[in-house]
Amino acid sequence: MNAPDQHSTALETDPTAADHGLDQDYVYVCRSGQLPDGYVRRFFPRGLELCLARNHGTAYAVSNICTHMACLLSAGKVVEDGIGCSCHGSIFDLDTGEAIYPPATKPITTYPLAEVDSKIFVRVTAADAAAGEARKQALEQARRRAAST
Ligand code: FES
Repeated sequence: MNAPDQHSTALETDPTAADHGLDQDYVYVCRSGQLPDGYVRRFFPRGLELCLARNHGTAYAVSNICTHMACLLSAGKVVEDGIGCSCHGSIFDLDTGEAIYPPATKPITTYPLAEVDSKIFVRVTAADAAAGEARKQALEQARRRAAST
Protein backbone atom coordinates (compact mmCIF):
# COMPACT_ATOMS: atom_id res chain seq x y z
CA MET A 1 0.00 0.00 0.00
CA ASN A 2 1.40 3.37 -1.02
CA ALA A 3 1.64 6.29 1.36
CA PRO A 4 -0.50 9.26 0.32
CA ASP A 5 1.30 11.94 -1.69
CA GLN A 6 1.62 14.92 0.66
CA HIS A 7 2.32 17.31 -2.20
CA SER A 8 -0.40 16.19 -4.57
CA THR A 9 -2.48 18.94 -6.15
CA ALA A 10 -4.74 16.47 -7.92
CA LEU A 11 -8.44 17.07 -7.59
CA GLU A 12 -8.98 14.58 -4.83
CA THR A 13 -11.64 14.77 -2.18
CA ASP A 14 -10.48 15.09 1.37
CA PRO A 15 -11.97 11.99 2.97
CA THR A 16 -13.15 13.94 5.99
CA ALA A 17 -15.41 16.13 3.82
CA ALA A 18 -17.62 13.13 3.07
CA ASP A 19 -17.38 12.11 6.71
CA HIS A 20 -19.05 15.42 7.58
CA GLY A 21 -21.89 15.11 5.08
CA LEU A 22 -20.34 17.53 2.59
CA ASP A 23 -20.26 16.98 -1.14
CA GLN A 24 -17.09 15.85 -2.86
CA ASP A 25 -16.07 19.36 -3.94
CA TYR A 26 -15.53 20.54 -0.37
CA VAL A 27 -11.86 20.62 0.56
CA TYR A 28 -10.51 20.65 4.09
CA VAL A 29 -8.63 23.93 4.56
CA CYS A 30 -7.78 24.39 8.24
CA ARG A 31 -8.93 24.05 11.82
CA SER A 32 -11.36 26.72 13.04
CA GLY A 33 -8.79 27.90 15.58
CA GLN A 34 -6.45 28.89 12.78
CA LEU A 35 -8.91 31.61 11.74
CA PRO A 36 -9.72 33.71 14.83
CA ASP A 37 -12.31 36.47 14.67
CA GLY A 38 -11.02 39.53 12.82
CA TYR A 39 -8.23 37.64 11.04
CA VAL A 40 -7.51 37.03 7.36
CA ARG A 41 -5.35 34.21 6.05
CA ARG A 42 -4.27 32.89 2.66
CA PHE A 43 -4.78 29.25 1.63
CA PHE A 44 -4.43 27.29 -1.60
CA PRO A 45 -7.06 24.52 -1.61
CA ARG A 46 -6.67 22.54 -4.86
CA GLY A 47 -4.15 25.19 -5.93
CA LEU A 48 -6.75 27.99 -5.88
CA GLU A 49 -5.51 31.07 -4.05
CA LEU A 50 -8.13 32.08 -1.51
CA CYS A 51 -8.44 34.56 1.31
CA LEU A 52 -10.28 33.28 4.35
CA ALA A 53 -11.59 35.81 6.86
CA ARG A 54 -13.69 35.69 9.98
CA ASN A 55 -15.99 38.58 10.82
CA HIS A 56 -18.35 38.65 13.80
CA GLY A 57 -17.75 34.92 14.28
CA THR A 58 -18.58 33.85 10.73
CA ALA A 59 -15.88 32.47 8.43
CA TYR A 60 -15.82 33.40 4.73
CA ALA A 61 -13.81 32.33 1.68
CA VAL A 62 -13.19 34.76 -1.17
CA SER A 63 -10.77 35.21 -4.05
CA ASN A 64 -7.50 36.62 -2.76
CA ILE A 65 -7.10 39.02 -5.70
CA CYS A 66 -8.52 42.52 -5.40
CA THR A 67 -10.45 43.50 -8.52
CA HIS A 68 -8.98 47.01 -8.52
CA MET A 69 -5.27 46.41 -9.18
CA ALA A 70 -4.72 42.82 -8.06
CA CYS A 71 -3.32 43.36 -4.57
CA LEU A 72 -3.68 40.41 -2.20
CA LEU A 73 -6.69 40.71 0.07
CA SER A 74 -4.95 38.46 2.59
CA ALA A 75 -2.64 41.43 3.19
CA GLY A 76 -5.69 43.53 4.08
CA LYS A 77 -7.88 43.42 7.13
CA VAL A 78 -11.37 42.70 8.30
CA VAL A 79 -13.38 45.89 8.74
CA GLU A 80 -16.90 46.45 10.04
CA ASP A 81 -18.54 45.96 6.62
CA GLY A 82 -16.31 43.28 5.11
CA ILE A 83 -12.70 42.95 3.99
CA GLY A 84 -10.54 45.96 3.21
CA CYS A 85 -7.76 45.95 0.64
CA SER A 86 -4.48 47.30 2.00
CA CYS A 87 -3.43 48.95 -1.26
CA HIS A 88 -6.06 51.62 -1.98
CA GLY A 89 -8.78 51.00 0.57
CA SER A 90 -11.48 49.17 -1.39
CA ILE A 91 -13.92 47.24 0.77
CA PHE A 92 -15.73 44.09 -0.33
CA ASP A 93 -18.79 42.47 1.23
CA LEU A 94 -17.65 39.05 2.48
CA ASP A 95 -21.09 37.51 1.90
CA THR A 96 -21.69 38.63 -1.67
CA GLY A 97 -18.26 39.77 -2.88
CA GLU A 98 -19.75 43.12 -3.89
CA ALA A 99 -17.36 46.08 -3.96
CA ILE A 100 -18.97 48.37 -1.41
CA TYR A 101 -16.27 51.03 -1.18
CA PRO A 102 -14.14 52.35 -4.06
CA PRO A 103 -11.89 52.45 -5.96
CA ALA A 104 -12.80 48.82 -6.85
CA THR A 105 -16.10 48.52 -8.69
CA LYS A 106 -16.13 44.83 -9.68
CA PRO A 107 -17.01 42.10 -7.17
CA ILE A 108 -14.62 39.44 -5.90
CA THR A 109 -15.60 35.78 -6.18
CA THR A 110 -17.00 34.14 -3.07
CA TYR A 111 -16.84 30.41 -2.30
CA PRO A 112 -19.15 28.27 -0.16
CA LEU A 113 -17.59 27.54 3.23
CA ALA A 114 -18.69 24.96 5.77
CA GLU A 115 -17.45 24.91 9.33
CA VAL A 116 -18.07 21.53 10.93
CA ASP A 117 -16.62 20.05 14.12
CA SER A 118 -14.05 22.88 14.36
CA LYS A 119 -12.86 22.24 10.81
CA ILE A 120 -13.19 24.61 7.86
CA PHE A 121 -13.99 23.25 4.40
CA VAL A 122 -14.33 25.32 1.22
CA ARG A 123 -16.13 24.18 -1.91
CA VAL A 124 -13.65 24.35 -4.80
CA THR A 125 -14.79 22.67 -8.01
CA ALA A 126 -12.51 21.62 -10.85
CA ALA A 127 -13.86 24.63 -12.79
CA ASP A 128 -12.98 26.95 -9.85
CA ALA A 129 -9.44 25.56 -9.77
CA ALA A 130 -9.06 25.96 -13.57
CA ALA A 131 -10.40 29.54 -13.45
CA GLY A 132 -8.00 30.37 -10.63
CA GLU A 133 -5.07 28.99 -12.61
CA ALA A 134 -6.09 31.00 -15.69
CA ARG A 135 -6.37 34.15 -13.56
CA LYS A 136 -2.92 33.50 -12.08
CA GLN A 137 -1.38 33.03 -15.55
CA ALA A 138 -2.99 36.26 -16.81
CA LEU A 139 -1.68 38.20 -13.81
CA GLU A 140 1.84 36.83 -14.26
CA GLN A 141 1.80 37.80 -17.96
CA ALA A 142 0.59 41.31 -17.10
CA ARG A 143 3.35 41.67 -14.49
CA ARG A 144 6.01 40.49 -16.97
CA ARG A 145 4.74 42.98 -19.58
CA ALA A 146 4.79 45.80 -17.03
CA ALA A 147 8.32 44.86 -15.92
CA SER A 148 9.63 44.85 -19.51
CA THR A 149 8.34 48.34 -20.40
S1 FES B 1 -5.61 47.00 -5.42
FE1 FES B 1 -7.14 46.79 -3.92
S2 FES B 1 -7.92 48.78 -3.68
FE2 FES B 1 -6.43 48.98 -5.21
